[in-house]
Amino acid sequence: MSSAHDSTVTTEPEGPVALGPHSWESGERPDPLASRRGRVGAPVSRLDGPLKVRGKAPYAAEFPLDDMVYAALVFSTIAKGRIATLDTAAAEAAPGVVLVMTYRNAPRMRPMQLFGSSEKAGGGDTMPIMQDERVYWNGQPVALVLAETQEQADHAASLVGPTYQAEHAVTSFAEAKAAGTDTAEFQLPLHLEIGDAEGALSAAAVSVDVGFRTPPHNHNAIEPHASTVAWYGDELVVHDATQIVSHTAWTLAHILGIDESQVHVTSPFVGGGFGGKLVSQHQVLAAAAARIAGRPVRIAVSREGVYRLIGGRARTEQRVAIGAAEDGRFTALIHTGTHATTRNNLWPEPFVLATHSHYAAETFLLDVQMAYLDMVANGSMRAPGGAVGVHALECAVDELAVTLGMDPVELRIRNEPTTGPTDGRPFSSRHVVEAWRAGAERFGWAERNPVPGSVRDGEWLVGMGCAAASHPYVRFPGGAARITLSDDGSARVEVAAHDMGMGTETAQAQVVAERLGLEPDEVSFEYGDSALPGLVPAAGSQQSASIGAAVVSAQHALVGELLKLVGDDSPLAGLEADEIGTLDGGLAKLDEPERHESYASILSRAGRDELTVEASGPPPLEMMNWSMHSFGAMFCEVRVNEVTGEVRVSRFLGSIDCGRVLNAKTAASQIRGGIIMGLGLALMEETQFDERNGRILNASLAEYHVPVHLDVPQIDLIWNDIPDPYAPVGARGIGELGITGAGPAVANAIYNATGKRIRDLPITLDTLL
Ligand code: MOS
Repeated sequence: MSSAHDSTVTTEPEGPVALGPHSWESGERPDPLASRRGRVGAPVSRLDGPLKVRGKAPYAAEFPLDDMVYAALVFSTIAKGRIATLDTAAAEAAPGVVLVMTYRNAPRMRPMQLFGSSEKAGGGDTMPIMQDERVYWNGQPVALVLAETQEQADHAASLVGPTYQAEHAVTSFAEAKAAGTDTAEFQLPLHLEIGDAEGALSAAAVSVDVGFRTPPHNHNAIEPHASTVAWYGDELVVHDATQIVSHTAWTLAHILGIDESQVHVTSPFVGGGFGGKLVSQHQVLAAAAARIAGRPVRIAVSREGVYRLIGGRARTEQRVAIGAAEDGRFTALIHTGTHATTRNNLWPEPFVLATHSHYAAETFLLDVQMAYLDMVANGSMRAPGGAVGVHALECAVDELAVTLGMDPVELRIRNEPTTGPTDGRPFSSRHVVEAWRAGAERFGWAERNPVPGSVRDGEWLVGMGCAAASHPYVRFPGGAARITLSDDGSARVEVAAHDMGMGTETAQAQVVAERLGLEPDEVSFEYGDSALPGLVPAAGSQQSASIGAAVVSAQHALVGELLKLVGDDSPLAGLEADEIGTLDGGLAKLDEPERHESYASILSRAGRDELTVEASGPPPLEMMNWSMHSFGAMFCEVRVNEVTGEVRVSRFLGSIDCGRVLNAKTAASQIRGGIIMGLGLALMEETQFDERNGRILNASLAEYHVPVHLDVPQIDLIWNDIPDPYAPVGARGIGELGITGAGPAVANAIYNATGKRIRDLPITLDTLL
């Protein structure tokens, strides 16, 4: 195990780097970069850090365009019904107002197509977009105002006074469930039965059967959603905050009825996405209004606006029941429940995902039901399903450990599976037991007193808890990359990818430099623009895999072209691609590296200024061939004040098994960010949804609480850095892993501190008194 603090850099690379095999994903041969100890993994500081601290990194709401106007939205205040009257005269007469757009003057637009429903669809829901007087949720945009300044737009928006004919809306979860539920679907089947789990539970020597409730959560990226849009004739340019540039271009074109080639989306810097920055109504409405007004539009959605417009994590009610033999082996694993959703949206909260992979069990019953409410369409939010599902599962495992009188780490290790527990597929790479052992050692788990409420420091009760974390490996189809070599020997790699703060450019520049045999300052990595190749969402913790796979393919194309250019007098003359590697700014024979010619020499002898190739990554067969997941063992120490109920997280350790780490510094930040979000999930985050009228009550960071610096201890991270042989660069995903497992580690520590099981989130101080 190495630690995120060690900054274990890495020796100088040894010899040429072979090309990635054509079919690493089916196991022909691992990507040679997976095991190469060179630049990959080094804790390089963000290349864009200096730009950001100097305010020189342009975010979506910071593109200054000539003659630009500012947008403000008016949100409905009923959950369902019709707009009865919509008087815009006062707003139109207000100072600086350029346009008031409502369903009456908005252009005809198609609804979005849901992300995942077709190759390039990027919508968060399929609600109609300002097309008629219907209202579908409390918070739906009913008017958009454009004015010369943001203040004028905001003021005029306050003068639009719609009246409504309300209809009965389903805004109570109980009423929604009573009306009937449907089984959810998401990648894996969300209903699964293996054996007779209920029978095995009844017959089990030891069992737990417990219910959990988790509240809805809203997105609170540090940068609220924003777009700056302009029409140049029939071409639409959108500077957007998005995790899907190419999908956004296609989706806007589809909605507006124009050709995909007429939309250009840029997104060079994004202040956090977390699943919330797909296509929502604000980009569409801004584009429509800009067309009508004939002027560029900036729409910077307010913090409240993000709550009204952008759906987040859905409310869930879950049951986890585990039957075990006396020795702790699981005979039954049942995980069922219901989550809230909307009719115009099929974005489930697949809370049983991780239950497919954590533990071996003789029988399984997994089931996710959806109940329909009239509310903002719930969307994807960091580790959809996993964040709340792992919480329920891992808290229930802790309860079983107490019932059995076993150490919870040992109970988990005893149920370690040898193949995918529900599909029987071999694991691509799984080192969970090592992660538990190394984490327990470093955290000092052996010091834990298993008797709840037995460790005291004045009025503080102190406890330790642990939980497993996991997230599936994903690689979407459609990744592609373009490589351009210049005759000065430098390379530019272009991918329509994203940097939402996680350090994409930095980590990829390291990988690409290593792969091409170049120095880091000889490589540039270009991203964040729909004109670049590929469909590469920064979502599903899959972007690094998508880029990595595409670059392997592009490098094959590049080397093929270079070998066509080398002349008979080149040291490389007569060699085939599979005999070639990269070294010292050029190509070399793998087993005879002195047969070497630099890229610059090859290009200049061929009379070329540059050479450009583009290629797509192979289909993601690795996901079908193997059970692939990132894993973690999370350890937490809390202090609970016996007088006030206040919970302080005093220590936290993540022991991570995610394959290769591409950049020890940015990876640590990303995993820590996930863990911090998990602390919020356990202790603070809750969208207060008013069941009387479907209104979100706490639509601000003053009342929707997320962790601040004083809530977060130093988070210790260790990882084994064992390459996954079936992943590009040996790396599985890390974006979503951290949030899973962090919440239950906190809840289990609170139990150890106090003896209280709080199964409804968040665990606020009133629940502990
Ligand atoms: Mo994510 S919730 O796949 O950005």
